[in-house]
Order: sequence, then structure tokens, then C-alpha cells
Amino acid sequence: MTSRLFTNIGSLVTNDPTLDRGPLGVLENAAFVVEQGRIIWVGAASQAPASDRCIDVGGRAVLPGFVESHSHLVFAGDRSHEFAARMEGKPYEAGGIRTTIEATRAASAAELELNTRSLMQEYTRAGATTIEVKTGYGQSAESELKSVQVAAACTDEVTLLAAHVAPPEYRDKHDEYVQMVVDTMIPECAPYASWIDVFCERGAFSEDESRAVLQAGTAAGLKARVHGNQLTYGAGVQLAVELGAASVDHVVYLTDADVDALANSSTVATVLPGADFSTRGTYPDARRLLDAGATVALGADCNPGTSFTTSIPFCIALAVRDLHMSPDEAVWAATAGGAAALGRTDIGAITVGARADVLALEAPNHLHLAYRPGVPLVAGVWKDGQTVVPLNEEDN
Ligand code: NIG
Ligand code: FE
Repeated sequence: MTSRLFTNIGSLVTNDPTLDRGPLGVLENAAFVVEQGRIIWVGAASQAPASDRCIDVGGRAVLPGFVESHSHLVFAGDRSHEFAARMEGKPYEAGGIRTTIEATRAASAAELELNTRSLMQEYTRAGATTIEVKTGYGQSAESELKSVQVAAACTDEVTLLAAHVAPPEYRDKHDEYVQMVVDTMIPECAPYASWIDVFCERGAFSEDESRAVLQAGTAAGLKARVHGNQLTYGAGVQLAVELGAASVDHVVYLTDADVDALANSSTVATVLPGADFSTRGTYPDARRLLDAGATVALGADCNPGTSFTTSIPFCIALAVRDLHMSPDEAVWAATAGGAAALGRTDIGAITVGARADVLALEAPNHLHLAYRPGVPLVAGVWKDGQTVVPLNEEDN
């Protein structure tokens, strides 16, 4: 059993509220020890216990690895032209998803897995140590099964989004599509997934259709999460809260009742500003959610349509600049918040017992993530205590 001491840390974000240093629990002159993939000690560097190996992080800031709770990585094809058209004034409509459905259906599982893994590598390089991956571009029994198997080969956090948008052949037969999701796709795909999701939105699925999908998913042993209130006001938030979903994502168009419902529930509100940025849409009012007492998570939502970015640091910068979150709130939302959105208590913090999923920044503290937008500041990443992005100085 080899123990590793991380030391010479510029500032350490622990996300430990018991330290009485705010929600981020920032420590100066701190160190921590990792053994068998877990954090076994955190404290003042001067009191660090003897360890087998030492990782000197050279005065850099160290944070919990980012927890991405919302991504759509199982896809094929390219929609850069749709993006360019949007930038010339064409509005975003969920219908663009159908372009990706066609390409994804035509791709082999091996091609999809290669693309998924390469995007996950991008995410990791930018500091993400846990990545939830959704299906949602198959939208047929065969292609959703292929997609969920690909996702399961790549991550432990797999979400079945069989009800993303009704595919072209069911455009005028939504009820039949929902029936197929409930009767065929959920039973066949559930063994490969942990989560059931639905796009509850005008142009995608109605409140009743969404409820039917989520209930069938939970009856099959999956936990619920919802895409809601992204493009218009709607039932997504209330439905998520009613069904005890772990998270409702996008949350752009919210009534006072929606905000109240989130503030008085355990359902996390996940903001995905990369999508609003790349659709030139309205940003969610994260300030209103936070001030009301809701738990807010932040993700990059990598997908080929609305947010083709794997950079959580970029989304932290957006959250601070445009969602009026403080840098501390944004960093919490991208780490502990993402963990909460996935119902996880073993990740998103640097505390005794947590998984040793951590990152080091080419910066003295976490504020630089928002202060230096677009700069690739992540200099080292460790998952379960294993190096995944080596620091220059680290001897491996
Ligand atoms: O998270 N909201 C729906 N789903 C994706 C977009 C999918 C697409 O346009 O391909 C999202 O924004
Ligand atoms: Fe999404």
C-alpha cells in the first residue's frame, strides 16, 4: 500500500463546510495524503504524516476534480454549419437533434465509442474526473441500445435519454413513440444505465409524456433527472421536483413557483451556460436560484448541437461573468454541485474518505479559473489517486 503526500499547495479547495471557511473550505499551507485511491488525511503541511511518496505541486492551487453531470457524448456527425447559421440569426430549435440522430444511427458502436472516449479525454484534460454520459441520438430501440452500451463501456454514470426528441418516423405519432420508450427501450436499456432523463420542452415531450417516461424508468430501477425549462417556460421543474429527480437541467425560464419548488426540494438546479452561449440564448438566473436557497450545479453539456465544449473552466468563466455567480459559487457548483446532481457523496470534495479525484491549476488559487477565461490552466489531474494528466515535475 503506497501512500502519496500532496504538498506545497498554493491554496487548497476542500469543499469542507465544517472547516468554517465558507462552502469551499479553502486552506492555505495545506497538504493531504492519498492511499488506495482515497484521501486519508488533510491538514497543515507542517503536520503532514510520513508517506511513501511526495508530490510537490509547486505552489499551484489544488481543487477537487470537476464533476460533469450532463453530457451527450454518444453521437456521430457534425453540426458546425447549424452553429454558423445560428450566429447569422437563425434561431435554435430542438429539431437539429434529428440531424445527429441520422448520423448516430449510421455509425458503428466502435466509431461511437472512439468519439465518446476522445471527448472524455478532452474533458479530463480540462479537469473533469467524473463524467455523466447520456444517450439520446439513437431514438430507436436498436440505436438507443447501441448508444447505452457504448456509454456504459466509457463511464459509470450512464443516462438513458430515449425520449430526447421524437425521431422523424414518429413525428406525428408521439404517443406511439412514448409507448415504445416505455415498453421496449427502457426494459432493454435499463441494465446498462443508472439514470432516466427526458427532454420536457415544447417541440420535444409534453408534461404527461415526460411523466410516463420518468415513471417507467424509475419502475425499472433507474433514478430520474430532467431536461427542463431550457427554451420556454414549462412543466419540467415541477415534474422533476414532484418525482424527486436528482437534478433538473438548463432551468432558464423559471416562474417564482419554480424557484420556490427548487429551493424547497432536494432536486439540484443544473445550469449549462455553454448551451446558452452557443445558441445565443438567454442565460439562467443563477443568482435568483442561489439567493432563494436552491442547490446549483454547473456543467458543460458537451453535445454537437447546443454546446460543443468540454471545458468546465470556460463554463465557470461564463457562470461568473454572465450568470452572476461568484467565483466561489461557480467552483462549488462545478465540483460539489455536480456531485450532488449525481447523488454522489464520495466525489466533489477533498475530505477524509473521499475519492482522490483532484486537479492542480497553473495558478495560485481557484479565482483564476474565472479571472483567466479561455486559458488552459489545468496542469495536473488525478483520478482515484492515479495520475491521468501528469504535472511537469511529477516523476511517474
Ligand atoms: O442539452 N436540450 C436538449 N438537448 C441538448 C441539445 C441537443 C442538440 O441540439 O443536439 C442540450 O442542449
Ligand atoms: Fe442536454
